[in-house]
Amino acid sequence: MDVVKRIREVRKLAGQARGTGGKIALVPTMGALHAGHFSLIDAARSECDFLVVSIFVNPTQFAPHEDLSSYPRTEGDDLAACRARGADVVFIPPCEEMYPFGKPKTEITVPQLAGTLCGASRPGHFAGVCIVVAKLLNIVAPDRAYFGEKDYQQAAIIRRMVKDMNLPVEIVTCPIVREPDGLAMSSRNGYLSDEQRREAPALYGSLQLAAEMIRSAHPPVEDVIGAVRRYLSENAPLGEIDYVQVVDPDTLSDVRAIDGKVLVAVAVKFERARLIDNMLVDAGCDDA
Ligand code: PAJ
Repeated sequence: MDVVKRIREVRKLAGQARGTGGKIALVPTMGALHAGHFSLIDAARSECDFLVVSIFVNPTQFAPHEDLSSYPRTEGDDLAACRARGADVVFIPPCEEMYPFGKPKTEITVPQLAGTLCGASRPGHFAGVCIVVAKLLNIVAPDRAYFGEKDYQQAAIIRRMVKDMNLPVEIVTCPIVREPDGLAMSSRNGYLSDEQRREAPALYGSLQLAAEMIRSAHPPVEDVIGAVRRYLSENAPLGEIDYVQVVDPDTLSDVRAIDGKVLVAVAVKFERARLIDNMLVDAGCDDA
């Protein structure tokens, strides 16, 4: 496995693989790798010939008050895990390599998808994600790039950016990987105190409750949102609800009535740890 810091090096290695007819995969990450990331790496490894994992804590997607400086950095473990899972290249650029001219003057936004859910409470976040993902796609030129459904909105925005800009890459999404108690794996779960950690599975519990309600009774949206909020207040009193929304899985607009597939999405802040989770639910079916 090659560990490279420079754009020209990763371009060269990916170019060589392309030259031999290999299908190239990219798994973009910010490191502090866990089983959620591994699921993307394993899917990419099994579906493609040449696997590039990028590790870059991207400053442009963090607001000034957010956790850029304290974001967990576990480079040694990350590289060992990538090697063990068969990555061909880990691209781990320093900040100056990705942003040699400082903050980029180009902005890529998908306002119709980015104004809601996490985008509403983190203005500018998805523009930062779009610019870095666009750069990584340009640098590596993969055939497929892998993203997790845990960050459903992020994947939807990237999919649309790729479509609107005719980028020649297939965006593949992989299911949410959870702890045994249901908490979605996240690099930020390590911020939780023991007490907060005990409450955190309530996010998943609240989504399961929503799914049961939707499948059994086709309730009004407000009833679902109310029940989810109550469940979270009772089971995660240390958390502060950021949002509870029921949206159209394609447009991410709030639905007025539940009919067909909907996405139920929640975000809860436990001090430094802002946790998100979501579930696709088919009102007409037992397993969405
Ligand atoms: P990061 O949070 O490191 O996540 C990298 C990828 O792993 C994302 O596609 C994310 O959705 C996926 N992932 C994280 N936790 C997961 C889980 N529990 N189950 C399944 N997939 C999971 O997302 C980012 O980094 C950045 O925004 C990035 C796309 C790398 C751009 O900087």
